[in-house]
Amino acid sequence: MKNILVTGGAGFIGSNFVHYMLKNHDYNIINLDALTYAGNLDNLSDVENDPKYTFVKADIRDKAAIEEVFEKYSIDTVVNFAAESHVDRSITEPEIFLTTNVLGTQNLLETAKRHWKVNPDDKYSSEFKSGVKFLQVSTDETYGALGKTGMFTETTPISPNSPYSASKASADLVVRAYHNTFGMPVNITRCSNNYGPYQFPEKLIPLMINNCRNNKSLPVYGDGMQIRDWLHVSDHCSAIDTVLHKGKDGEIYNIGGNNEKANIEIVKLIISTLGKSEDLIEYVKDRPGHDRRYAIDNTKITTELGWSPAYTFEQGIKETIEWYLNNEQWINKITSGEYTKYYEKMYK
Ligand code: NAD
Ligand code: DAU
Repeated sequence: MKNILVTGGAGFIGSNFVHYMLKNHDYNIINLDALTYAGNLDNLSDVENDPKYTFVKADIRDKAAIEEVFEKYSIDTVVNFAAESHVDRSITEPEIFLTTNVLGTQNLLETAKRHWKVNPDDKYSSEFKSGVKFLQVSTDETYGALGKTGMFTETTPISPNSPYSASKASADLVVRAYHNTFGMPVNITRCSNNYGPYQFPEKLIPLMINNCRNNKSLPVYGDGMQIRDWLHVSDHCSAIDTVLHKGKDGEIYNIGGNNEKANIEIVKLIISTLGKSEDLIEYVKDRPGHDRRYAIDNTKITTELGWSPAYTFEQGIKETIEWYLNNEQWINKITSGEYTKYYEKMYK
């Protein structure tokens, strides 16, 4: 592993991963990002002059651009974060979720196959150069929703409910097909909900922190009793790093930290940490098709690969709230302009 193409590296998890890899390894990191509303180069301003880091503005659906990057930087590893990632947006605008998340992934796979196969013109050969790897960053949402009990394992059938999760599940199937048909060395990781620095404030935790500090109402969907399994983003990064180095080709690995919380619990925790009143809570109409509960069984990655999370939720959420309060400029820049229009359309 020398030249790692990180797609979507200007987003929330991608930018945390770029930081993580530059800090922990001596690899060249090529961050390719289309800089959609969710991509933000401010997240990486501290590493922009690092000789091991390169930024390329391009779309994963653009065949010529992806070809050029593979050629120019001799890419041997792909970690594909690039995606439309917000469930609510997939309800109002599903099409871009399919083109980016499915077709974009297939374009990356096809380019990687052309560059990594020992005999690219021989359709019967499944021999790939040694040391290459395609890692697809997927999500627990592909499994659908759980009732009060049970957990998602890697053998739980996929059963996605939103256009977002359907697009991610479809991409996973294409990645699986490139392994089974062509022999490409791949891994798929399916992580639970992340929280931490640099998350776009359309997502629950940064949205609630931002509204709370501005004394704005806190829109809780339905009864607020939906459960998510929260993991600090740096633990997601260390898990991906572990799978890159130790993952068995063709395998799926669930990633999670056994930390289930109801949405309302999180909202109340943010309110009390900021010293505000619960009167700010406003129960609003539920998200259509809202998944009730997610929970990850992490036995495979912990026992087979030896990964474990470093953060407790108490420590992680405390640091995260402090980060958003200490980085007002970062959040104010994002929440001016386009975000205001999105917020009004979404919540009015
Ligand atoms: P994000 O929305 O913050 O970032 C997505 C990034 O992808 C942005 O920088 C955006 O500019 C870029 N992008 C979008 N379309 C692109 C395109 N066509 N070409 C190139 N770049 C493009 O998302 P995130 O929360 O950081 O999630 C990253 C990945 O992790 C996604 O694939 C998501 O499905 C997955 N995931 C997220 C979570 C979570 O809790 N956020 C959990 C599990 C898995
Ligand atoms: O589980 C992993 C997934 O987690 C990722 O694949 C997605 O990319 C990521 O966006 C996230 O999806 P969720 O839909 O779970 O995250 P979100 O932050 O949008 O919502 C978390 C919960 O909070 C969910 O039950 C909906 C609820 N919610 C969200 C918002 C934005 C509210 O009650 N009010 C809100 O305003």
